[in-house]
Amino acid sequence: MLDPPTNCYSALFLPGANKLKEHDWIAILDFGSQYSQLIARRIREQHVYSELIRFDTTAEQLAARKPTGIVLSGGPCSVFDEGVPSCDPAIYELGIPILGICYGMQMTAKMLGGTVKPGKEREYGSAQVSIEDADPIFAGLESELDVWMSHGDQVAELPTGFKTMASTGTCPHAAMGNTESQIFGLQFHPEVVHTPKGVEILRHFIFDVCGCAGDWAMAQFIKESIREIKAQVGDSHVVCGLSGGVDSSVVAALLHKAIGDRLHCIFVDNGVLRHEEAEQVEDTFGKAFGMDLHVIDAAQLFLDKLKDVTEPEEKRKIIGNTFIDVFAEEARKLGDVKFLAQGTLYPDVIESFSPIGGPSATIKSHHNVGGLPDDLHFELIEPVRELFKDEVRALGRELGVPDYVIDRQPFPGPGMAVRIVGEVTEDRVTLLQQADLRIQEEMEKLPNYKDVWQSFGVLLPVQTVGVMGDSRTYENVVALRIVESMDGMTADWTRVPYETLATISNRIINEVRGVNRVVYDISSKPPATIEWE
Ligand code: XMP
Repeated sequence: MLDPPTNCYSALFLPGANKLKEHDWIAILDFGSQYSQLIARRIREQHVYSELIRFDTTAEQLAARKPTGIVLSGGPCSVFDEGVPSCDPAIYELGIPILGICYGMQMTAKMLGGTVKPGKEREYGSAQVSIEDADPIFAGLESELDVWMSHGDQVAELPTGFKTMASTGTCPHAAMGNTESQIFGLQFHPEVVHTPKGVEILRHFIFDVCGCAGDWAMAQFIKESIREIKAQVGDSHVVCGLSGGVDSSVVAALLHKAIGDRLHCIFVDNGVLRHEEAEQVEDTFGKAFGMDLHVIDAAQLFLDKLKDVTEPEEKRKIIGNTFIDVFAEEARKLGDVKFLAQGTLYPDVIESFSPIGGPSATIKSHHNVGGLPDDLHFELIEPVRELFKDEVRALGRELGVPDYVIDRQPFPGPGMAVRIVGEVTEDRVTLLQQADLRIQEEMEKLPNYKDVWQSFGVLLPVQTVGVMGDSRTYENVVALRIVESMDGMTADWTRVPYETLATISNRIINEVRGVNRVVYDISSKPPATIEWE
């Protein structure tokens, strides 16, 4: 996958740049809470589309996109601070139901004529709210609810027309509402798991107040995306760098469904892939899907460039740059191609958002590849940029991408080159591929294999003494690296059953020529990293 553009934040969030949704959807005005994305997830889990948009989107811009409901998120600011973010007041006049959460509630109270008082101290953690007026937000729930609080300020006086819906000993207006104007506020966070009935509270808002149908599903996403892709691409052609990983595979499958043979996929075999990976890509995407797939066997070129290189970052740079050269050369041969497809995901677009000092987005760099040469001017097409990773997987399944691709573990762009400590040679790659194959075969037998983030072998640049039969051996060491992780940022080594470790070790030592010792890496990240280089 190639780097996302640095301006993709505004491309996504400038109202109007996006599609006009035909189905119900909930707009979340993002005031910078660490939980904003979680609100979107919780709502999408109810089969209602939801999207984060900029807090300063005007009422007119918002109305043009016809949201069914609006959530005003929490945020790190206090309404008493200088120049804090606030929404366009006309949003309260649109007649669209609104739910303010934490900062979103305090801002709403203040803007509609109520008062907010600074908290003496921050209330952070679990609390119990007493429900005073259940209808409609707390309908059918118990009169005392456990909730998660994280606030300093709180609403002191309600705006005219509002009533208290819940309270705690320290917070007299823990929830407020105006059933006529359909504007509600919650001081606590319904989106986090520490508010056990939070999902039901959100459901009351999105279904009972907003009247959403709850029919958003992948099939609908596919239909809409295909229409949009066709409109964007017209008669032009699209090139897609297929890596064999989930994101690019799903993007390719979606584009293929939309534009058929005007999609051209390029798969570069860099010689440091997993066992028979190139063949699998060819079989799945070239043969089964019938895509115009260009498999470039550049293994020798990569291995030549990696000769004598031992420094990890140097390896990464060589692989990244060589990939660009090979990809660009093949793309040029395709002739008149206007678009480059990319598997940018939602969290890549909006990683963090701080309304203090203006909107900002940290763009995760897809560190496999840098920019393409100047003579290749592609427009970007990013059809899954509004989806989370698990949604991309669901989309892939719906499109018929096989499970072994969808459930595949992440694999680094520089591939086995960063799993062969020291110099990368063809023989060492083959040896590690063979060991890795056996690790995967055994790991896949475990009932909780899906909880494993990555499981792979690392070839060490040391030889150790062993005995085989009557003779002494002096051969390689393979380290097993098997970790659990949510996102690769932190990780812990997996407590794999001894039997599985024993089988993996036996199989590698007996079946892979050149290995006489297998060790298990029991370091967590941090301080270690997942990859060894
Ligand atoms: P580390 O080793 O930094 O890895 O703990 C975290 C996650 O990132 C993957 N990784 C890479 N992925 N290009 C990639 O596309 C790279 O250069 C790269 N380095 C590490 C790694 O496999 C793990 O999932």
